[in-house]
Amino acid sequence: MQKIIKLQLSSILSGYILIVTVLSGCVSGQLGKKNSDEYKNGMVVSAHPEASKVGVEILKKGGNAVDAAVAVQFALAVVYPNAGNLGGGGFMVYRSSKGEINTLDFREKGPAAASRDMYLDSAGNPILGKSLYGHLAVGVPGSVDGMVEAHKKYGKLTWAEVVKPSIDLAEKGFQITKSQASELNGLHRNFMKFNPDGTALVNLDGTWKENDLLIQNELANTLKLIRDKGRAGFYEGDVAGFVVAEMQKGKGLITKEDLKNYHSAWRKPLTGNYRGYKIITMPPTSSGGIALIQLLQSVEPYPLKKWGHNSDSTVQLIVEAERRVYADRATHLGDPDFYNVPKNQLTSIPYNKNRMANFNWSRATPSSEVKAGEANAKEHEETTHFSIVDKEGNAVSITTTLNGSYGSLVVVKGAGFLFNNEMDDFSVKPGSPNMYGLVGGEANAIAPNKRMLSSMTPSIVEKDGKLFMVVGTPGGSTIITSVFQTIINVIDFEMPMQSAVAAKKFHHQWLPDEVFVEKDALDSLTTEKLKAKGYKISSRGAIGRVDAILKTKWGNYQGGADPRGDDKAIGY
Ligand code: GLY
Repeated sequence: MQKIIKLQLSSILSGYILIVTVLSGCVSGQLGKKNSDEYKNGMVVSAHPEASKVGVEILKKGGNAVDAAVAVQFALAVVYPNAGNLGGGGFMVYRSSKGEINTLDFREKGPAAASRDMYLDSAGNPILGKSLYGHLAVGVPGSVDGMVEAHKKYGKLTWAEVVKPSIDLAEKGFQITKSQASELNGLHRNFMKFNPDGTALVNLDGTWKENDLLIQNELANTLKLIRDKGRAGFYEGDVAGFVVAEMQKGKGLITKEDLKNYHSAWRKPLTGNYRGYKIITMPPTSSGGIALIQLLQSVEPYPLKKWGHNSDSTVQLIVEAERRVYADRATHLGDPDFYNVPKNQLTSIPYNKNRMANFNWSRATPSSEVKAGEANAKEHEETTHFSIVDKEGNAVSITTTLNGSYGSLVVVKGAGFLFNNEMDDFSVKPGSPNMYGLVGGEANAIAPNKRMLSSMTPSIVEKDGKLFMVVGTPGGSTIITSVFQTIINVIDFEMPMQSAVAAKKFHHQWLPDEVFVEKDALDSLTTEKLKAKGYKISSRGAIGRVDAILKTKWGNYQGGADPRGDDKAIGY
């Protein structure tokens, strides 16, 4: 067990979604070189230091990457309640040390009583906030079933061992950070609308301070039921009773049957190539993987390295690729169990080359001139399951969410966890933007038991058949472009992991027709050149909050914990 140098990173920022990247294993037969920020045996990078600590303790105890991932997911539900969750959903990408790969879709589903127009008024217009706040915004949660499935398939330690750290954190409490205190106080009035009696998280006077101890006894009891009964501890019995009682209080739709019927899905990973690297990523129900591969294929013919990081040519090319890819997303992407997503066509090199053919260096292509590409032919159903034997050196990348920060703002009385507001990720009405400004149509229309489209992009990159990078981020619609930029920052611009994560980012999503840039992402000359070609440049706060791990050529692990948040990389 050789610790090399420990990362010291912290800052303040709230995120919508969190990413957990976990990696375990010895680098057998290779001598590690002592570079800064590198570890030899394994690493956990997550949105909260307490959760990263939990993950590394599990690895040190002999648990594998999946054991650590399950423990971190539950720990984050306690210490990072704005996105960590029992009441939300997410996606996992897995790669074993032998190179076998798998993905798990534990995305929430629409309740059986959900209907296409449930958020529209009598004139057919979306009712402001109805898909975003309160009991009607909630999709049937998937995270607990996802963790049970992942552990059942790949776990090495007992289920009780991996759930235990989160119970301890909920019972003994943890000190909230400055940013958490300010978020909870800032949301106090809205929280009180849905939790008028207060909860452990929602104190009645809204006066949280940095380092206050947050003890969550109801949440601890729910975690104990999950520890003792597995999925039945959450989807049946007392917790199901609390969920349904809460739903009835706020005219929500989720029933005991919805809970009992929820199952996550193993899906065949989506793979693609970029400059000789293999990208392993999430297929639909997330749009993230398809869009990531489309972006990489769109820029691969061009000499990004020669042009330089965030130079005018690099930015223009990427923006034009993003414009086309997000137009495709709006039309072609949805739950593959309900809609025939043309994923083979969208991720083919000729298709993306053709999409870029009308790109013009002398002026911005207006988004009004860009429609989705033709990609309607029928495609085959494919199997989603692999049999994988776990050995050291396995990698897991999980992105999980409640959607908005603290989800629907409803804490389930008696059970102590927050409900998601994931229903807003459906296309509430064709062409009507969701909270991220994303539009959609038929492919992502609301239907009973259907999963809402996501942008989450947990990914793993291989080089020469060996593990190279584990990467993902929160950030709604900016997830895809942040993961994309992090990958090219390493592959094209040869940045170390931490610099690639911290590098300033920009984002375009077809509609609105604007390039969003972080402060100092572009220099003034670049900005002027792009404006002169017709690009509308708007400044934006943080874009992405990437947590990633890179395996160096010496076999060590470099962490990238995003300085935009309280994120922490801990290796050993
Ligand atoms: N809730 C955001 C996403 O899944 O993309």
